[in-house]
Amino acid sequence: MIKAEGLTKVYGLDFVSVDDLSFHIKKGEIVGFVGQNGAGKTTTIKMLAGILKPTKGKVIINGFDIDSSSLDAKRSVGYISDNPDIFLRLTGAEYVNFIADIYGVSETDRKLRMEDMASRFGMEDSLNKQMVSYSHGMRQKMMVIAALVHNPPVWILDEPMTGLDPNAAYELKKMMREHADAGNCVFFSTHVLEVAEKLCDEIIIIKKGRDIYQGTLDKLVEEHKNKSLEDIFIEMTHTNN
Ligand SMILES: Nc1ncnc2c1ncn2[C@@H]1O[C@H](COP(=O)(O)OP(=O)(O)OP(=O)(O)O)[C@@H](O)[C@H]1O
Ligand SMILES: [Mg+2]
Repeated sequence: MIKAEGLTKVYGLDFVSVDDLSFHIKKGEIVGFVGQNGAGKTTTIKMLAGILKPTKGKVIINGFDIDSSSLDAKRSVGYISDNPDIFLRLTGAEYVNFIADIYGVSETDRKLRMEDMASRFGMEDSLNKQMVSYSHGMRQKMMVIAALVHNPPVWILDEPMTGLDPNAAYELKKMMREHADAGNCVFFSTHVLEVAEKLCDEIIIIKKGRDIYQGTLDKLVEEHKNKSLEDIFIEMTHTNN
């Protein structure tokens, strides 16, 4: 459902932020994207979501090329950025409705989805308050609700758990699993290795823009006997290596 082929991003004249990255995320899968600060996760995610144009390479979302069939590709994506501080003058409900308008979601569907997700996140009483008055976690929850209001098959989430309280993080993880199990896919970056361990079918580890591992966590742990996941990660991603 998400295919990246030779994805490369060069910033400025010669800073290679993402270097010839290829992967394929299939129906039913949750794939975690891990790597140190500055490894190239957000840059990759923005290219997958069609926000940033790759210097080289190709992105296919749900069968659509993000470059040549960008509208169809973007309709298939629910994207959550790493920064929830946007449209703060709007109320949560206004923001969700604004996004629902863009995607042409019917009044009935948007109401149902907004109410369902707001109740899962305990946000019912805050929907009609301006987002400027929200805490970071509340803004993050509204980003999730708005990103998913058009019921996209492909979820691409940049550190979605950051700032969420344990209940909301639990709900989001449950939603991710339900979504993948329903024949869709989820790709998300995280710094929390325990989340990747519990939730992901596979992980991709990136270092200085290059993938250094793709596969299951079981296989990774198997390859590094008697080491904790944290030790393996630190060993593999350490920038002096
Ligand atoms: N607009 C930009 N112009 C120049 N360099 C950039 C730009 N955006 C990102 N970079 C550089 O690209 C590299 C990858 O950045 P990116 O934001 O993709 O990392 P990340 O893996 O998401 O890190 P973090 O874990 O801190 O979120 C970094 O070295 C960063 O400085
Ligand atoms: Mg990032």
